[in-house]
Amino acid sequence: MWDPATYHRFGDERSRPFLDLLARVGADRPRVVVDLGCGSGELTETLAVRWPGARVTGLDSSPEMIAAAGARGGRAEFRLGDLAHWRPGPDTDVVVTNAALQWVPGHDELLTRWAAALPPGAWLALQVPGNFDAPSHRLLREVARSRPYAAVLGDLVREAPVDDAAGYAARLLAEGASVDAWETTYVHLLSAEGADHPVLRWMEGTALRPVKAALDDTAWRAFRATLGAKLAAVYPARSGKVAFPFRRVFVVAHVQEEK
Ligand SMILES: C[S@@+](CC[C@H](N)C(=O)[O-])C[C@H]1O[C@@H](n2cnc3c(N)ncnc32)[C@H](O)[C@@H]1O
Repeated sequence: MWDPATYHRFGDERSRPFLDLLARVGADRPRVVVDLGCGSGELTETLAVRWPGARVTGLDSSPEMIAAAGARGGRAEFRLGDLAHWRPGPDTDVVVTNAALQWVPGHDELLTRWAAALPPGAWLALQVPGNFDAPSHRLLREVARSRPYAAVLGDLVREAPVDDAAGYAARLLAEGASVDAWETTYVHLLSAEGADHPVLRWMEGTALRPVKAALDDTAWRAFRATLGAKLAAVYPARSGKVAFPFRRVFVVAHVQEEK
């Protein structure tokens, strides 16, 4: 289950990659704009503001996220659905998917299909986290694979469910698109105030969700305490802030005008 409030603890840091991604999308007057894995819709609404003439739709598989998005009352529309089953229409001129594809196994195949099906001149923009080798995720795997958690968590904690920027670029170039691909490591400076380590609080909004769902309350509290202590050792506080480097992968593909 996604919890919009927990996810938005670090809303400012989480929205910046979306804005950096969209800065490289050159669509002028798109007809239909789709945000796949839109979450609670704040960022989707920025698309409706940027392109007032477009029909803007956010799609997400979480009922909690779609309920929060629908309650926003902006111009964008929101639908519950699995992006793995989504297909572009003949007037889909912009597809955005920010921080969502890492949850979708086989998404690289989807990118190929979407690029092939999009109309001439369309834009496909994606961002995924590229931090699966970072200390935060290595420690998460280490604790999950230790006793007593390994039996319950099993394969739940994934190694690296994403490609790098060059891999995605190669796939979209093969479809004849022009491609802009890059990687950025943001150094988030998180407040060290509060009882819990801020990297633990960050991870609770995303990577730790499936872990929490799989454990009972007692085991979850113990897991959280163990991981929190390990995170504090590798991400120390300095002058009231914890530096949390976070690599992200960006790709913007522009489908040829003549297909
Ligand atoms: C980390 S949040 C990102 C939300 C938003 N795009 C943002 O940038 O703030 C990931 C979102 O992807 C959604 N998601 C995960 N798998 C999905 C799928 N197969 N189809 C649609 N949405 C999915 C989740 O429900 C969640 O809202």
